[in-house]
Amino acid sequence: MSKFEKTAKVTIRDIAARKGGEPVVCLTAYTALVAQLLDPHVDLLLVGDSVGMVIHGMPDTIGVTMEMMILHGQAVMRGAPQACVVVDMPFGSYEESRELAFRNAVRILKETSCAGVKLEGGVELAPTIEFLVKRGIPVMGHVGLQPQSVNMTGYAARGRKRHEWDSIIADAKAVADAGAFATVVEAVAEELGAKITAEVPNVTIGIGASASCDGQILVTEDMIGLFATTPSFVKRYAEWGAAIDEAAAHYAQEVKTRRFPAAEHTYSMKD
Ligand code: KIV
Repeated sequence: MSKFEKTAKVTIRDIAARKGGEPVVCLTAYTALVAQLLDPHVDLLLVGDSVGMVIHGMPDTIGVTMEMMILHGQAVMRGAPQACVVVDMPFGSYEESRELAFRNAVRILKETSCAGVKLEGGVELAPTIEFLVKRGIPVMGHVGLQPQSVNMTGYAARGRKRHEWDSIIADAKAVADAGAFATVVEAVAEELGAKITAEVPNVTIGIGASASCDGQILVTEDMIGLFATTPSFVKRYAEWGAAIDEAAAHYAQEVKTRRFPAAEHTYSMKD
């Protein structure tokens, strides 16, 4: 099929129906152009709050704002005719109360036209997820490593010791019971990722959480090798960082030696 041929938009219900079925293919996107390139290949595009680090050079996701998520959500929606688009709720936009979460989730849905929102948290956020879902807002959960809690917990993988399992499993179950259509499970031991996937009724999307999950997600810029280093759970499918470095060096050298622009890159007179 040509990449410009129209296919039906993937819905939240399509994703939810993939429990135990064909793995759900997900990637992050923050811009229209990248969304357009990824759209034919993925079921779901996540406008992750990782945008703060990947695009804006922030040290973590804490400083990401609603305005940033909405702006990038709008851009991705313009480039994604087919993929289901989910937008992250940034730190501080949902934890305080169910009502604040509802207002901000509605704003994201209305201003971007995305299909749903994602928020981090387990047992303690389950009542908020239920409040949103019962009012018509599709929610994706996020358990295991939760980057918005970096100041409390750091970035180490979770569940590599048995005594950590119970609370992470309880989180995943609470989020699923609250009505989340899917849950991102981040950086947990392989056996725990498999156990959570077997025990929760909703779709699990793994990022460093084993091939047993119902789907997988990676940060696209990690996956295409834009960063010098990536977490150990990332497979680098391309080396774009090195390619950009090489291209920029070549360009600089040709500008300095006046080999660029050549005749074919210049306008000739018409008369
Ligand atoms: O913000 C993000 O990109 C995410 C993914 C890593 C799941 O939450």
